Amino acid sequence: MKEPIAKLRRLRSVELRTTACADSADFYTDVWGLRAVERGDGEAWLRGTGDEHHVLQLTAAEQNGLGRITFAVATPAEVDEAARRLDARNVPIIAGPGPTGEISAGYGVSFVDPEGRIIQLLADALAVPMLRREEAVPVGVTHVVLNTVDIDASVEFYTDVLGMRVSDWSEHQMAFLRCNSDHHSIAFNQAEWASVNHVAYEMPTIDQFMRGIGRLRHHRVLPLWGPGRHGPGDNTFSYFADPGGLVCEYTSGVAQVDEDRWLCRVWRRVPELSDTWGTAGPPSVDVRTHMAGVPDRGAFDRHPDLLGVTR
Ligand SMILES: [Fe+2]
Repeated sequence: MKEPIAKLRRLRSVELRTTACADSADFYTDVWGLRAVERGDGEAWLRGTGDEHHVLQLTAAEQNGLGRITFAVATPAEVDEAARRLDARNVPIIAGPGPTGEISAGYGVSFVDPEGRIIQLLADALAVPMLRREEAVPVGVTHVVLNTVDIDASVEFYTDVLGMRVSDWSEHQMAFLRCNSDHHSIAFNQAEWASVNHVAYEMPTIDQFMRGIGRLRHHRVLPLWGPGRHGPGDNTFSYFADPGGLVCEYTSGVAQVDEDRWLCRVWRRVPELSDTWGTAGPPSVDVRTHMAGVPDRGAFDRHPDLLGVTR
């Protein structure tokens, strides 16, 4: 059995490709509570109150989709070793290993998963001073849920190659994967096509989670689903659509996993477990439609030569 390519420390940032880049950049700064680090024509980098240079990158595109998911690794040497192990597994590398030359600097390697998602491992990126946490605004990105046509293959790639661990299953519909003590940084949802399901932003406390929902209400932005609390992960949830129709979530209080004691379980998909407070009710067709998004071939659209490359 091969070693995973690296030890992932945490989710750093997510890039979303969006049909409504300027409006979404306004929404995430003026309403959602992120702050612009840099904005350009058709692109924006936004931060939370944490020390990550940016947590959300928006890129203008003709179709919504996932641009990239970036994880932290500890050192450039680990990035180099990850690249060697990716090569040994025939996983296609599309950038690096080396200095990224990007806005957040750092040393990284980017590769493509079996459904075309671009994953970046990044060390030594710029940090920014943490901001006060009194306001009801996100600290950063805490998890991404991805729709997959083959949940078993996706889970295998992210556990075997990336070294993530399965914290829980929701029947054979969803799998929650962790890379640190947070119950999940990535989750997969079995679906008809690959796409980004939603991106979740961490609120520091449950009070700030609720106050954030209240601020959105004042902006006439109502939840698609929530507020409520999930059984798997124990986190609070409230899902919204951004101006491009991509789903964003406020969450708080995700379960912390003790590696030595955690037992993965399979949760039944029943209302009292997907909405433990009983406040949210079942997800509507509208939220399900938003979460399904549109088919996203990711890097395979932009790098057609990658099609047919298997590990
Ligand atoms: Fe979520």
